[in-house]
Amino acid sequence: MADTTTFGPHGWTPERLGPQNDKTYLITGGNAGAGFEATRILLGKGAKVVMLNRSAERSEAAVAKLKEEFGTGADVSFVRMDLASLDSVRTAADEILETVPRIDALICNAAIAQVPEQKLTVDGFESMLGTNHYGHFLVSGLLFERIEESNGRIVVVASLGYKMGIRTMQFDDMNWDANYHQNKTYAQSKLAQMMFAYELQDRLAAANSDVEVYVCHPGSSRTSLITTSGNLMTRIMFKLMSMSPMVQSAEKGAYPEVMCATEDGLEQRALYGPTGRNEWVGPVGKGTLEPFAYDKATTERLWELSEKETGFDWKL
Ligand SMILES: NC(=O)c1ccc[n+]([C@@H]2O[C@H](COP(=O)([O-])OP(=O)(O)OC[C@H]3O[C@@H](n4cnc5c(N)ncnc54)[C@H](OP(=O)(O)O)[C@@H]3O)[C@@H](O)[C@H]2O)c1
Repeated sequence: MADTTTFGPHGWTPERLGPQNDKTYLITGGNAGAGFEATRILLGKGAKVVMLNRSAERSEAAVAKLKEEFGTGADVSFVRMDLASLDSVRTAADEILETVPRIDALICNAAIAQVPEQKLTVDGFESMLGTNHYGHFLVSGLLFERIEESNGRIVVVASLGYKMGIRTMQFDDMNWDANYHQNKTYAQSKLAQMMFAYELQDRLAAANSDVEVYVCHPGSSRTSLITTSGNLMTRIMFKLMSMSPMVQSAEKGAYPEVMCATEDGLEQRALYGPTGRNEWVGPVGKGTLEPFAYDKATTERLWELSEKETGFDWKL
């Protein structure tokens, strides 16, 4: 059951957020959709934001737009990082470690969704699993020490789609060679991100680390997600749905991730997002989390597999 009481009838809104002048936030996919709106909110509170984006051109356009709104002194920049390439993630992490002295939160926001046909990343992973899960698993690991030194957090932006697939990992065919399905395969990639977060919480607790890990989702928000990767029919359906009250603005979709990056006193074993109809829209708070998302045998096995596939040992 969603908890609609913690932040009052309007739920969490950026009005709760005080000045962020000494804070640095990193966000993947900050040039569009909910990530762009989260960047806007944080910049508006005086934070420094470094976007980790795959396109230099779209990043420059986003920076220009944000500087137009907040002035040339706004502390917003980008590092090129393609989550679909482990090499690109490693190069970007090196650059970040050289140039960004503190990380108050790493917001794992970028994603692709509903890719109509099976595609593989340069590393041979199914494209949504590779981009959404393995890319974020690696960048979180490579930046972990800096996050820990900064007493920071990791925020995983998930999706209610985690419930709309097979509700576990298809370990015998993680790339869905035999039964690729645009929705179920997307669902697996978002569930994998959540399982990573919940397993990381357990490992951090065992290691007595102060790093906090939160999981949220934007509900159903008017962004470019489906237009970027979905097929024509999915795009038409989402366009029609977007006109209904069951879809909210990208700005509202950004509230849960900004909240998880900044608010004190949140629960870690939770899923934050809109708490209104279907938990797609409405006041932001703690939503419903299905236990299969933190099934221990599955999260542990996925962790081992992810370390092997990314070639990164977390030492946790
Ligand atoms: N919108 C919804 O209703 C909804 C519902 C549930 C969950 N979500 C989740 O919300 C998050 C934000 O999505 P959104 O709706 O704001 O989508 P969006 O408007 O499409 O933005 C996605 C961002 O991710 C970036 N990205 C995609 N592939 C990347 C890669 N290989 N490397 C680096 N960045 C990459 C995109 O960059 P480009 O501009 O270069 O494409 C873009 O900046 C995602 O995690 C998504 O799964 C959204």
